[in-house]
Amino acid sequence: MKKLVKNNVYWVGKIDWELRKFHGDELSTQRGSTYNSYLIQEEKTVLIDTVWLPFAKEFVENLKTEVDLNSIDYIIVNHGEVDHSGALVELMKQIPNTPIYCTANAVKSLKGQYHQDWNFHIVKTGDSLHIGNGKDLVFVEMAMIHWPDSMATYMTKDNILFSNDAFGQHFANERLFDDLTDQCTLNYEALKYYANIVTPFNAIVKRKLQEIGKLNLPIDIIAPSHGVIWRKNIGMILEKYTQWCDDYQEHQATIIYDTMWNGTKLLAERIAEGLSKADPTLEIKVFNRAHTDENDLIVEVFKSKLIVLGSPTVGNDMIHKMAGFIDLMRGLKFKNKKAAAFGCYGWSGEAVKMMNDALTSAGFEIVSEGLRNLWNPTPEIEEQAIEFGKQLSSTIK
Ligand code: FEO
Repeated sequence: MKKLVKNNVYWVGKIDWELRKFHGDELSTQRGSTYNSYLIQEEKTVLIDTVWLPFAKEFVENLKTEVDLNSIDYIIVNHGEVDHSGALVELMKQIPNTPIYCTANAVKSLKGQYHQDWNFHIVKTGDSLHIGNGKDLVFVEMAMIHWPDSMATYMTKDNILFSNDAFGQHFANERLFDDLTDQCTLNYEALKYYANIVTPFNAIVKRKLQEIGKLNLPIDIIAPSHGVIWRKNIGMILEKYTQWCDDYQEHQATIIYDTMWNGTKLLAERIAEGLSKADPTLEIKVFNRAHTDENDLIVEVFKSKLIVLGSPTVGNDMIHKMAGFIDLMRGLKFKNKKAAAFGCYGWSGEAVKMMNDALTSAGFEIVSEGLRNLWNPTPEIEEQAIEFGKQLSSTIK
């Protein structure tokens, strides 16, 4: 069933309550997601984006109950990724000649995925499409936020920015708008989405926000392709994006460890104690990597000035979950963050050096050689770990 967004604009997407992993198994989505498709019924009828492939048939059947498919004048594809374009094949079987407006890169991504030669119309930033009643759709290329093909579509008069992935959240919700939903959950999911998906493109986001700001467009609604629609706290989410894209930090240090027989865990707790003693204003969080969702951990890294990683040495290496987590961080290209490592060992003890090397290659500034401990920590070593925490605190004053 369609839901009213504003005037003649409707949501016709799909709520995916069950989704728990996205991008294969790469991203946790504990609160499900939505795939937002929008139907505009002005003098022209326009469909903006579709839904993920598994829901293609359902989407097209539902759409048929809302509109004669043959009356759709234009389809706008803001982004070719399958979670938004997946229902196109099913839809285009029924209306094969309907023009599709998208970027040149979206033609490549759509052809590459679906091997179809649809009626593509390539648009660039500033191009527009009249849809009647004095309203236009204006296109804004958003290359690398987060695919080369990404773009946003702005609807004049109604002042709606269809932003696609930007400003989205993986947050299944029947309540369509930001002001109707739980604010803490919404803000967390918007942050988790940014930290895990958008972080590598911070510099591009910064330039794009400035570019959009200079256009002085009145924006009454930001309608992303995932999660709820922003209509009340537009200034807040724009300000958040401005902060997040600027190598965001809070006064936080995060300790993430894995442990086999609790020696490295004990060091983690003592290091936290040292950090806290040296700076009671510092937010300190401690997580066992093996017991914590890695995408939630990325949110904590995103907010931190300093991360401290712990792993015992096993098989001349660090524990593989820690190696995988450092690799995940490397892909996100964090900047301006400090790091240190620690861990227990029984004989060879390479893990700390290996973590230092891996963190360096992931773009972190190593602020200490690290803390290594042979066998289980003695009370003296526990004191050393407290001192180690104090020293680390001094690097983020
Ligand atoms: Fe980049 Fe929601 O797809």
